[in-house]
Amino acid sequence: MKATEDLLSKTVKSHLSDDFVLKSILPSKEILKEIFLVAAKAPSGHNFQPWQVEVSADRKSLAVSLVPGSDQTPYNYKESGSYIAIGTFLKNFEVAANNFDYQVRFSFFPDPQNDFLVTKVFFCYSDSLKSDEVNRLYKAALARATNRRIYENSLDKNSREALLNYISEFNLLFVENFNLRQKISRYLALPDRLMFENKIMHGSIFDHLVWTKEEEISKRKGLYLETMELPGPVKALFKVFKFWPIASILGKIGFGRVVQNDNGANYASAPIFVFIPLKQNNFFGFVELGYNLEALWLKAVTLGLSGQVFGGLPFLFRYIKEIKDQDVFSTKHVSEIIWSATEMNKVFGIKEDSVGLVLRLGFAKSPSAWSSRTEIPLGFVE
Ligand SMILES: Cc1cc2nc3c(=O)[nH]c(=O)nc-3n(C[C@H](O)[C@H](O)[C@H](O)COP(=O)(O)O)c2cc1C
Repeated sequence: MKATEDLLSKTVKSHLSDDFVLKSILPSKEILKEIFLVAAKAPSGHNFQPWQVEVSADRKSLAVSLVPGSDQTPYNYKESGSYIAIGTFLKNFEVAANNFDYQVRFSFFPDPQNDFLVTKVFFCYSDSLKSDEVNRLYKAALARATNRRIYENSLDKNSREALLNYISEFNLLFVENFNLRQKISRYLALPDRLMFENKIMHGSIFDHLVWTKEEEISKRKGLYLETMELPGPVKALFKVFKFWPIASILGKIGFGRVVQNDNGANYASAPIFVFIPLKQNNFFGFVELGYNLEALWLKAVTLGLSGQVFGGLPFLFRYIKEIKDQDVFSTKHVSEIIWSATEMNKVFGIKEDSVGLVLRLGFAKSPSAWSSRTEIPLGFVE
């Protein structure tokens, strides 16, 4: 198998030899607690954390399931965004397990009657896993957070080389040219405009915003306002924007376009944009996409870089392609979404109808705030 094929298929293809199952053993409660802590730090759309962990009936493995309905925005058509989040979760899970000397193997979709049971995870103790890179990735999984700030415009030679080595090892496409970054960023900022022009898009942000530190600590889910890195006056105005009749009037006088321009200019500051493709249009494909996204993101964090992923435009594009008679978007918005996504794909040099995620990476000051997580209960472990 070519090293470039993809990360997850390596894991999947080597999955679950009889020997591995025979040797497999659940780590102690203390270690599982640490692993769950890191796994739960994975990114998920709107920080919805759509995962659940239980002991499998065989009591030799853990069952990781998707909690359906966690994310009801149009971005999450047929739970695709939640399957991506399970993929990011599994990458963190693996990184943490490795750091505690456990190899893991996934047995994907073991129950044909239950698409929400994504995988069983088997563990084997192995003291040959220790390495500096394993430890760096573990620390990166703990430290990673979405950074929506303005980034420094360039990378130093060493970080750039290390990042490009990784990107080429996994055959990913990327863009560094400033003009092209500006184009991509403007397309990616289209959903930011649509929240002033479409009621459902407006709700998909404002219904899930977490406004205060207190609310954030008690809910531990949703989009925390402080992580949006909004300039002071805009942050104050958000309280007004949350009322759809007002947002809609602003949208009609072109305010959404101002937002699209401003946000696009901020996004474009990052020196590199990477496209992570959906390789198979099925549940497994989305899990794999999330796993690959997180693998790249963690690598970047080990190099001291910040990241922000964009799922909005690509997934609105997918929504429109999949549901021919959708009634969420006007004809004008449908053409704008299709046009923006296909033009963006062209800039990356990929097929016009490709779907994937875009990750922007670069150096930046630390984020102003972090999103909390709900704890994964451990009660089931004896
Ligand atoms: C599939 C997916 C799509 C996402 N899309 C966006 C996006 O379009 N814009 C953005 O700023 N963040 C996006 N995020 C990041 C989440 O909002 C973020 O991971 C979550 O709020 C938790 O915060 P953290 O990453 O700081 O831990 C996305 C995350 C995932 C997994």
